[in-house]
Amino acid sequence: MSYQIIDGKAISKQIKEECRVKAEQYRERGILITLAVVQVGQDPASSVYVRNKKRACEECGIKSLSYELPEETTEEELLSLIGKLNADSAVNGILVQLPLPGQIDENRVIQAIDARKDVDGFHPMNAGALCTGQRGFVSCTPAGIIELLKRSNIEIAGKECVVIGRSNIVGKPAALLLLAENGTVTVCHSRTKNLKEVVSRADIVVAAVGKPKFITADHIKEGAAVIDVGIHRNENGKLCGDVDFDSVAPKCSAITPVPGGVGPMTIAMLMSNCIASVDLSESL
Ligand code: GUN
Repeated sequence: MSYQIIDGKAISKQIKEECRVKAEQYRERGILITLAVVQVGQDPASSVYVRNKKRACEECGIKSLSYELPEETTEEELLSLIGKLNADSAVNGILVQLPLPGQIDENRVIQAIDARKDVDGFHPMNAGALCTGQRGFVSCTPAGIIELLKRSNIEIAGKECVVIGRSNIVGKPAALLLLAENGTVTVCHSRTKNLKEVVSRADIVVAAVGKPKFITADHIKEGAAVIDVGIHRNENGKLCGDVDFDSVAPKCSAITPVPGGVGPMTIAMLMSNCIASVDLSESL
């Protein structure tokens, strides 16, 4: 079967361009959209993500404010910075890069961010809004998955969707978004029995397992669309996903590559959330 490679790089470029145009319209109205980016410590992967987020802001004409705090920062110090950013009317969005060092309780930090500035969509108010079909910020990676499907003309309504993974950042919100698009949704996880049997029913598979090449051809129904959220470096230093691309792709109708699939979409949707923050902050 011939398959479509879903080009996340091209789609993310399109979305960033749409954001750039909207940011410019806001600037003409005197609003300079501003994102505060907070990193605690120097985790190398986090530093790469933060750098890419700031670069995307530049591309889109969004102002980014950078807060680089030392590894030994206390929870109190971080909460105090968040309090200041919450109160600063020039700041539209606040992003605290995760993971945080062990002495800091991530949930307390997430809850301290003003829900109207929570461009990551991690605050319980935004998670609850997604759950109940109300307006709010949606977590960037799952929002990116839906955009990839829509912009690739992959119908979700009425389809069997299987999400593998149940994290607050990806699995759970991805399942809720697919449900909101009228998919028939199943969530699988480490305790799921007969995983292969369940996944092989799916028309749309979202793999957010966290294990390299975990999903193989015998999980996949002929003609399924496969979205790979994983990113891993193999023994040769090459990037791969949760899906064994070479064996799975020939069975698919569409599949995302790693790199160049879901990854770039996360940042594009962050830009889109920054743009939305201006309107949302007035309505939340
Ligand atoms: N760490 C891994 N993914 C994310 C994300 O989407 N946002 C933040 N803030 N931290 C992360």
